[in-house]
Amino acid sequence: MTRPVLIAPSILSADFSRLGDDIEGVVRAGADWIHLDVMDGHFVPNITFGPGIIKAVRPRTDAVFDCHLMIEPCDPYLEAFADAGCDIITVHAEATRHLDRSLQAIRALGKKAGVSLNPSTPENVIEYVLDRLDLILLMTVNPGFGGQAFIPSVVDKVARVKQMIGDRPIHIEIDGGVTPQTAPLVAAAGADVLVAGSAVFKGNGEAEWAGNITAIRDAAQSAQ
Ligand code: DX5
Ligand code: ZN
Repeated sequence: MTRPVLIAPSILSADFSRLGDDIEGVVRAGADWIHLDVMDGHFVPNITFGPGIIKAVRPRTDAVFDCHLMIEPCDPYLEAFADAGCDIITVHAEATRHLDRSLQAIRALGKKAGVSLNPSTPENVIEYVLDRLDLILLMTVNPGFGGQAFIPSVVDKVARVKQMIGDRPIHIEIDGGVTPQTAPLVAAAGADVLVAGSAVFKGNGEAEWAGNITAIRDAAQSAQ
């Protein structure tokens, strides 16, 4: 069964000086979810923003806040991101010593639980936590920066994860280097949520963002 492809623009590529306005604008332009890239300068070589900024922009939209935590450790901060208004909280398997515990903690906070895998991490690390997952985020770049090139070897992993999850209602999300050219590769392999930063926010404002979102969505859906 195919599911509609959801587009989750990463605000990493938005204008941080007008973040609330850009979030409203990209939702008007057709975004399904808002993807929030939280980086700590430790797990990844870059620092972005934390729960305070997320809480400040939360009232600007009802769209799902899809929070991608690239922080280590993650467990001490889960409650703060839940309180900030994130709907989905995704942790990296590589950044938590006890993945099962972290996923239980997210659901205990009343949030949807996700796990992310770096390009080099094999999918078998999630084999025994599948029933604790609402979302699997497969990185198609090494996390840390927007605007990097898509790593094609991850496409096979998408197909293997799709097979692993069977009929469980788990989203497969792709993050990194998603464009109208790469979106069909991962959609054909089973991905149903596509994060895109630079490919959505390129150009000058809402009208162009809308065209960018449509181009990615159409390319993906035609490959499903
Ligand atoms: C990378 C982030 C991504 C990134 C995507 O660490 O998790 O969400 O912003 O950016 P693009 O779409 O430009 O590759
Ligand atoms: Zn991300």
